[in-house]
Amino acid sequence: MTDEIALDKADYDFQHKHLLGLADYTKEDILYILEQAQYFREILDRAVPKVPTLRDKTIVNLFYENSTRTRLSFELAQKRMGADVVNFSSGSSSVKKGESLKDTIRNISSMKIDMVVVRHESPGVPHFLTRCVDAAIINAGDGAHEHPTQALLDMFSMQQIYPDLEGRHIAIIGDISHSRVVRSNILGLLKLGAEVTVCGPKTMMPAFVKEMGANVSYNIEETLQWCDIAMALRIQLERQDEGTELFPSIREYHQLFGITMKHLDEYPDFTIMHPGPVNRGVEMESRVADSDRSIILDQVTNGLAVRMAILYLLSGGTRI
Ligand code: NCD
Repeated sequence: MTDEIALDKADYDFQHKHLLGLADYTKEDILYILEQAQYFREILDRAVPKVPTLRDKTIVNLFYENSTRTRLSFELAQKRMGADVVNFSSGSSSVKKGESLKDTIRNISSMKIDMVVVRHESPGVPHFLTRCVDAAIINAGDGAHEHPTQALLDMFSMQQIYPDLEGRHIAIIGDISHSRVVRSNILGLLKLGAEVTVCGPKTMMPAFVKEMGANVSYNIEETLQWCDIAMALRIQLERQDEGTELFPSIREYHQLFGITMKHLDEYPDFTIMHPGPVNRGVEMESRVADSDRSIILDQVTNGLAVRMAILYLLSGGTRI
């Protein structure tokens, strides 16, 4: 069955051992991953959506921060590829980068692990792990730094509408300052030649976005009129030390930056995305999330295919 999958690493020299962030990946690396993901996306539509590609691999999912779809998506991707999977979740926010993490990792590495998928509230933890263990490390989100697999699945989803993202107008709207999704998306999208505009309250607009090469707007109407795709981001109250002080109220935020049904009527061309979880009635009206302009659930399915492709490429295994 897997012979039908024309995966051939020989046609591109994919050099990476880890996926720590898209800062380290070239345009060619990204396009190659997205191309491989297409094969896995087709597998997901089969009656038996499984391949034995990782059957000799052991993977640990190390989640120090809450996660629903990213953790499930990784686990499902690993199981669909026949890997042995061990899950470690820590609901405790007191586990910080340092000795306790190092100890956990040392214990894990003595179990002969091939790959570690890690999510942690501290930026740089995935990089730190590369120095502690010999396994391939995949960053599933490190603080407000990067979330590369999310950005890859976002780009894959965009490509299903616009196969060539060169010159496309992508808007990212919401809590820019606390978002790791925005950083990875700006890095990836600019490498693929898209134009990126970030839009949100001034108090949530960090200087780094302009330095990275994105445009900045504080006007949602202007942004929605301009864009081909509007990706809304969750207001990350858990990452705001100042509570809700960055904007007067959730209601005012929604009035100024929420996507509404009226916007869909006024600007008929843009597609809606969101990495999830959606705060309905905040980033967008509930009906907007469920409308036929939204590809939010497609993003989740595509996430599985993209993560399968990444696991395959980083596993160093041979095609079966
Ligand atoms: C994002 C994350 O965790 O950074 N969600 C996700 O991975 N699906 C965005 C968010 O939490 O709002």
